[in-house]
Amino acid sequence: MRQLLARKPLARIMKEAVGGSDGHTLHRVLSLGQLTALGIGAIIGAGIFVLTGVGAHDKAGPALILSFVVSGTACIFAGLCYAELAAMLPVAGSAYTYAYATLGEMAAWIIGWNLIFEYTFAAASVAHGWSHYLQDFLGIFGLKLPYLITNAPFDFSPETGRLLATGTMFDFPAIAIAVLLSALLVVGIKESTRVNAAVVALKVLIVLFIIAVGAFYVKPSNWVPFAPFGYGGLSLGGHVVFGRTGPGGDPVGMLAGAAVIFFAYIGFDALSTQAEEAENPQRDVPLSILFSLLICTVLYIAVTAVLTGMVPYDQIDIDAPVSAAFKQIGLPWAQFLVSIGALAGLTSVSLVMILGQSRIFMSMARDGLLPRFFSAIHPKFRTPWKSTILTGSVVAILAGLIPLRVLAELVNIGTLLAFAIVCLGLLVLRKSDPGHPRPFRCPWVPLVPTLGILSCLVLMFSLPAATWLRLLVWIVIGLMVYALYGRSHSALRAH
Ligand code: ALA
Repeated sequence: MRQLLARKPLARIMKEAVGGSDGHTLHRVLSLGQLTALGIGAIIGAGIFVLTGVGAHDKAGPALILSFVVSGTACIFAGLCYAELAAMLPVAGSAYTYAYATLGEMAAWIIGWNLIFEYTFAAASVAHGWSHYLQDFLGIFGLKLPYLITNAPFDFSPETGRLLATGTMFDFPAIAIAVLLSALLVVGIKESTRVNAAVVALKVLIVLFIIAVGAFYVKPSNWVPFAPFGYGGLSLGGHVVFGRTGPGGDPVGMLAGAAVIFFAYIGFDALSTQAEEAENPQRDVPLSILFSLLICTVLYIAVTAVLTGMVPYDQIDIDAPVSAAFKQIGLPWAQFLVSIGALAGLTSVSLVMILGQSRIFMSMARDGLLPRFFSAIHPKFRTPWKSTILTGSVVAILAGLIPLRVLAELVNIGTLLAFAIVCLGLLVLRKSDPGHPRPFRCPWVPLVPTLGILSCLVLMFSLPAATWLRLLVWIVIGLMVYALYGRSHSALRAH
């Protein structure tokens, strides 16, 4: 029991965070601008280009604009807490390490395990989305890939909930993008951030284009009724307790929309895994978290307002809402640009997710909770190459072979749990280590972290009930791995 609750002292965390088990260190080269670009790289992607479709059409109608405000506000609370902890503990382990310092080894393990899920499945589902956008894009030029390599060999049927054979072998573009991005990440953080910056510039320009051009086609009458599904959407144990129930028994309404599009904000947290590669982590990591989050919140609210103003909510396309909206208003050429923006968005999201995952894995291996082999840092490239290759391979296999529709929902619930624990960790550390230097201080404590915890819980309760069951199964598997491996190999225990 003592070991399960053992906290890692802050001084020891800082002392050990100096590289891999082989003595090599990561490359400290990232500036504030590059970090902010990585943040925006991780954030803008499938959420805005794809999920706004289901969000507006099935969950919230035009009130999805408010859903983005609600989800964005929850993320800003969590982001402020991340900012304080990242400045105080500038190490690659992010929420996993903060939990180790505050709540003990077992809580740290559970959060680390959830982060592995978040980043791996987000990267894989985004790589999967990338493949489909690429195939649509090639289709514009009349090009087609051989059918056998266009999709995972089986898929879930949303109607029956059963697996169906698709008649294909694997999803080649999804595998190829995961392999290419992982190779880039192995070669160097500088090279990776250069590619990221170019991709981010392109996607932000296209998002601005969507807002500027789309605004001319907004018909305010499309915003009426504003909340056709109501403003609620909370469920407890499978029963909707606030708001209406949708056709599948899941909650609908503005809050339910907020829980679905929460995915759009995921990624700013990955910046805190970059702390050992930042030139001035104590100043730049917190600032880049807040800058990237604020910029994306404003862009998201504007895109959603334009989208729901351009097309009546019940005619919004579920698969490619933004590009279809431009076709619907008679600007098919704009579809081409939007597809390029979506491809760019999905590329950088996948890149930063694989990046974040490899750093978390490296940190857990450094602590002995996963095999130490994975904490190695390449002597020349100065990247955690073994954990990156492992992450990239798992992402490629998942993206190429597994139907990701259902598992992707789990990304939201696991991330919300991690955010709530980061807010809780801030409260614990303010009590237990009040004198430790805090280069960035979250304002209005305890109000902000408490609101952070509450808003994350509300969003968790707004997700379909089945995701809770899946979260539980993932945690139970994680606890078994911990019992069989981490508990006996923990570096903290050996001390
Ligand atoms: N926020 C990322 C996206 O929307 C995960 O794709």
